Amino acid sequence: MSSAANIDVIILAAGQGTRMKSALPKVLHPVGGRALISHVLAAASALANTNLHIVIGQNAEALQQHVETTHPDLKIKWVQQTEQLGTGHAVQQTLPNLGASNTALVLYGDVPLIETNVLSELVEIAARRQLALLTTKLDEPAGYGRIVRDANGDVNEIVEHRDCDDSQLGIDEVNTGFMALPVAMLSDTLAKLENNNDQQEYYLTDVIKLAKAQGGSITGVCTDDFASVLGVNDRRDLAICEKHYQARRALAYMESGVTIVDPDRVTFRGDVSIAPDTSLDINTVIEGPTQIGSHVVIGANSIVRASTLADGCVIEPNCVIEDADVGASAAVGPFARIRPGSELGENVRIGNFVEVKNSKISAGAKANHLSYVGDTDVGANTNIGAGVITCNYDGAYKHRTVIGENVFVGSDCQLVAPVTIADNATIGAGTTVTNDVEADVLIISRVKQRSVRGWKRPTKK
Ligand code: UD1
Ligand code: CA
Repeated sequence: MSSAANIDVIILAAGQGTRMKSALPKVLHPVGGRALISHVLAAASALANTNLHIVIGQNAEALQQHVETTHPDLKIKWVQQTEQLGTGHAVQQTLPNLGASNTALVLYGDVPLIETNVLSELVEIAARRQLALLTTKLDEPAGYGRIVRDANGDVNEIVEHRDCDDSQLGIDEVNTGFMALPVAMLSDTLAKLENNNDQQEYYLTDVIKLAKAQGGSITGVCTDDFASVLGVNDRRDLAICEKHYQARRALAYMESGVTIVDPDRVTFRGDVSIAPDTSLDINTVIEGPTQIGSHVVIGANSIVRASTLADGCVIEPNCVIEDADVGASAAVGPFARIRPGSELGENVRIGNFVEVKNSKISAGAKANHLSYVGDTDVGANTNIGAGVITCNYDGAYKHRTVIGENVFVGSDCQLVAPVTIADNATIGAGTTVTNDVEADVLIISRVKQRSVRGWKRPTKK
């Protein structure tokens, strides 16, 4: 390793983002469940020895607050650009905060899929006292600054689309906006910027020709990973970025041994870890922070959010699992809802149309059909019959139901909390349990069955 100079990372985020037509600042719109600018910060802060500078416009409190709460570990220098006079002007605002012998790395807050390895390549070139410029080739370069090279193939200048002549419009190599250069070179050239262009803005891109004029050397790095330099200007771009991001994540999971039945129909948001030999069916949505073990099967149309799924559990189709732990080899669904605070032990079975909330279901217990189990502890190997309801709410307060081990709760019972049912008790079908139940007894509160002979149902006249 060369003696690493510090890197001043400059992230431009002062633009209004008007084309988003949104009350939310553009760079806070999410891709993969994370703000655009969070992706940029993650890529940049993975480099060693960085100082982070973010250029913001006026009324950026929401942006600042979001970034500071989602990245409490990052030290960020916020720089105000009161008037948006161009990308060069934006970078000028940071100059007083940069280290004279550092390397500057310029990133855009609205280009989320840039990867750390590309950034380190730019920074390494700049450490050799050159200007490194990231470019790409596009079939439809309209709107982008064009890279003008000389006969030797060296980069001469960048010409913005609206300032191009006819021959320059035909150039398919474009400016991504990313560059790295010595801070000294940056400040020397920024001092000479003029705004005599179509938009009367101070263009950062003019730094190229000014550096060249001073005898500086420019290295254009052309990436063919078009997605990694895709900028978000409107909601269409946002959707395109999301697609590329999801494809990239799905590929990474598949490479690590996860089966994804159709990578075009699965969505990951936030931090999600998945162990090998787990399989995800179509239309699964997995939101972090979630950890999924190995040999887990997640059926079609299931949503898992902020949960832990242990090895070998099976989530049948159409389940919603949130803020819950599912034990090894447990089976959930189809059509089950596991709500926050739920903990399902090993081999637990939760069947169709069962809702579990803030409950601990111990190993081997079952609730297979049509139940509500809320604020409840269920002992090991207990069976909750079809249609059982824990009545946990008295209209003002929530109360707990405690059920022991190896209890049999018959179908269609109501357990009125607070109530405790001891081990091995049997609750007859249709019973309303209002008092605690001792161990090993049968309780039953049903009206005794009787026959009424000659009973006639009413008929319509
Ligand atoms: C810019 C480049 C263009 C490149 C394209 C890639 C310039 C002059 N042009 O054009 O060569 O092909 O990006 O996407 O640099 N910003 C500020 N303050 C300002 C102006 C902009 O912070 O005064 C920020 C914006 O929030 C945005 C970024 O800079 O994050 C780029 O600005 P934008 O106006 O989108 O530049 P483009 O016209 O897309
Ligand atoms: Ca742009």
